[in-house]
Amino acid sequence: MRIGILTGGGDCPGLNAVIRAIVRKGIDHYGHSILGFRDGWRGPMEGDFQELGIDNIRGILHRGGTILGTSRTNPFKEEDGVAKINETLRTHRIDALIPIGGEDTLGVASKLADEGISVIGVPKTIDNDLSGTDYTFGFDTAVNIATEAIDRLHTTAESHHRIMVVEVMGRHAGWIALHSGIAGGADVVLIPERPFDLDEVVAHLKHRHTRGRTFSIVVVAEGASPREGQLQTQTSQVDAFGHERLGGIGAALEKELEQRTGFETRATILGHVQRGGTPTAFDRVLATRFGVAAIDAVHAGETGKMVALRGAEIELVSLAEAVGEPKTVGDELYAVAEVFFG
Ligand code: F6P
Repeated sequence: MRIGILTGGGDCPGLNAVIRAIVRKGIDHYGHSILGFRDGWRGPMEGDFQELGIDNIRGILHRGGTILGTSRTNPFKEEDGVAKINETLRTHRIDALIPIGGEDTLGVASKLADEGISVIGVPKTIDNDLSGTDYTFGFDTAVNIATEAIDRLHTTAESHHRIMVVEVMGRHAGWIALHSGIAGGADVVLIPERPFDLDEVVAHLKHRHTRGRTFSIVVVAEGASPREGQLQTQTSQVDAFGHERLGGIGAALEKELEQRTGFETRATILGHVQRGGTPTAFDRVLATRFGVAAIDAVHAGETGKMVALRGAEIELVSLAEAVGEPKTVGDELYAVAEVFFG
């Protein structure tokens, strides 16, 4: 078989581990040809790819980013985008695609599967907001980076008696904020799933200071928003998938919390640091298991599915199900973080 792989959307630690696993098992075990498309869906649209051999994937397991490059190209927004993909597959006799991506990349994959293209998706995102899988790779690395940052901010917050606002990634879901907040001992965690009440946040922080604490840590997901009318943080920029460019909640909170509490406040935006660098051991293992399962599924003739972690097992789930609704933080987990507020 001739199998094309691509990495789309925001990059994330572990992408190269998936590529390596697909190439190793695909070539060594099955004798298939593996073609690497460049820059997400742009590659198949423009026929931009290279044949991947064992030499191409040597030494990449621990490397962050993606050797294939990535983009947020949406073939359904480009003129004849899908026809161009079909043409590339026909011309180069490609039997199946393995797109590695999040809701957008796999949303495209799901629609292409409906149009008869053989596709097996691999779930990637530091946000961990894809349904159908308990975890996506990249998330564990991002949480570890954010937790280390919170630990470091703790010591300087304590020395200066300040409130530290830490803005982490998470567009629709507060998984990174919640996990790093719990792991880092945050005093307030704000997530997109729960529009927050600024007065309540201020009350938590003041209460903490009445109990003798002289500093606080507030972790906020970039997609978190206050209840209507309390703060303005929106921008007008959107990407090819219609997502608003976020950013600004940390800075807005810095100003507002300092004014309302009277405590000196500083904001740190972790931004793309959370997506860069080497994957954790957990993410390397998960990405490797996903890659092996994806090439097995393609070899077995499966299509329209995504490899997923369910409990401790890797399973195949429907792509349509995975991209249907984002997986958001439930009340039970948020309640664990809330025990430590204020
Ligand atoms: O989708 C993953 C993600 O890291 C989001 O958490 C974040 O909002 C977005 O990507 C940032 O995108 P970009 O790299 O285009 O700035």
